[in-house]
Amino acid sequence: MWRPAQKIKWKPAPGRWPTAGEAAGSRLFGPIGVGALHLATRTWVPAMVPWRATEDGFVTQDNIDWYARFAAGRPGAIVVEATGIRDVPSGPLLRIGHERFVPGLRKIVDAVHEASAGETKVFIQIIDFLAIRRRPEPARYLGQHLRITERHRSALGLVGAGEADVRARLLQLGDAELDAVLDARELEALRMGARERVTDLHLAHIRELPQVLPDLFAGAARRAREAGFDGIELHYAHAYTMASFLSAANARDDGYGGTRAGRLRLPLEVYRRVREAVGEDYVVGCRFLADECIAGGSTVDDAAHYGVAFARAGMDFLSMSRGGKFDDAQQPAIGWSAYPYTGPSGYECMPHHVSDERGPFGRNIDATVQVRRAIRAQGLATPVVLTGGMHGFGQAEALLASGQADVIGFARQSLADPDWFVKVRSGHGDAVGVCIYANYCEALDEKHEEVTCQIWDRVALDEPGIRKSRDGKRRLLPPPWRPPH
Ligand SMILES: Cc1cc2nc3c(=O)[nH]c(=O)nc-3n(C[C@H](O)[C@H](O)[C@H](O)COP(=O)(O)O)c2cc1C
Repeated sequence: MWRPAQKIKWKPAPGRWPTAGEAAGSRLFGPIGVGALHLATRTWVPAMVPWRATEDGFVTQDNIDWYARFAAGRPGAIVVEATGIRDVPSGPLLRIGHERFVPGLRKIVDAVHEASAGETKVFIQIIDFLAIRRRPEPARYLGQHLRITERHRSALGLVGAGEADVRARLLQLGDAELDAVLDARELEALRMGARERVTDLHLAHIRELPQVLPDLFAGAARRAREAGFDGIELHYAHAYTMASFLSAANARDDGYGGTRAGRLRLPLEVYRRVREAVGEDYVVGCRFLADECIAGGSTVDDAAHYGVAFARAGMDFLSMSRGGKFDDAQQPAIGWSAYPYTGPSGYECMPHHVSDERGPFGRNIDATVQVRRAIRAQGLATPVVLTGGMHGFGQAEALLASGQADVIGFARQSLADPDWFVKVRSGHGDAVGVCIYANYCEALDEKHEEVTCQIWDRVALDEPGIRKSRDGKRRLLPPPWRPPH
């Protein structure tokens, strides 16, 4: 992962933990309305992919146990990981593109409700993403996959030559010469792995995204309701299709890009179709970027404009994230796909403890506040979820008390200790396993390995009956917490 040049080492500083009485009187552990629902507390576990689904997208017992374990800590809400809306193979990521996925998803819902005695609400994040290929062996790409055109022949001085001769010549070229012969997308395909963009209007399936996505999202939303989820989160963030429509880099000239109104058009059309499918009384919100953090990308001003539009359209919550784009991702190893959390924008999304003078804690506060302020200025009360480096009670409470956010999201901190909520609330904050923001979890995510935390994944490995990672070296769940008497 990319790191800021300053390389300043930060330590988490959760500060003083509250007594049970202080926690009981706090905003953080007080209720909040989200659409037709009430969350018992203003605490939230944002979506995190744990790599526990089957190869064909079904829920496993490990998925169920994972969410039940989070629910035992009793956060106000848990958002289940990004779940694909299409009925197409997409590796071991959860899917909701067909009725056959509903029974498994229902087991997650039941497990969360049961483990939290009905207290924790459970939402599901629904996502669409475009195709991305693995970085190829150069010999394979140049020798087989690259489509040879007259442009290559003329650049190589081989006009009239057969394809095999052109490929043979390409295979002899060094990097600088390839730079001169291949175009930008071909170089990307060679060095990073080919990646589709929402602006590839020459491809029929990309051109037609505005026609197909509203129904795909609506079908997924209907299934989520059928499975018993308390609500859904539309994934409009990071490197995926809907965020790419919202991006300032979206120059589509078919009415779905080019201007702020054009970029917003599909996200709003998706939302309206989803709303029609699930009804007015069901919680529907979205996650989107307070700042794309890439050159030429959307800024916080764009995000404020989008936030107002989403709130006005009737979304029940807005969960803010930051960065996480392919555009500045690092080159993957041959045989691997680019991972959108490896460049500077990825750093903004999941900042590491080796940082710059701003540090890894609360990097999205200013931008989130700006988005929230714009929404409030329009007289709209939509709750805004703030996430990023949150790990202390005082920090979270101050943000709520000063009206900078309505709900606080704890992603890596709840992975480090899913009992954070119950411990802090019961006056046992000193028992919290504090996240050190070393991004061990994120590195596992990048390798598509079961996500765990270094704080607990080697503890009591010989405990009978515990489930372990495929290599048998890590436990898949933290040990249960037993409050002292
Ligand atoms: C292992 C892992 C998986 C993640 N998967 C998702 C995801 O599926 N959807 C999403 O919107 N964000 C995802 N995120 C980002 C987090 O929700 C969160 O925005 C980010 O980690 C910053 O918050 P934090 O500092 O509290 O960890 C993931 C983060 C991690 C560490």
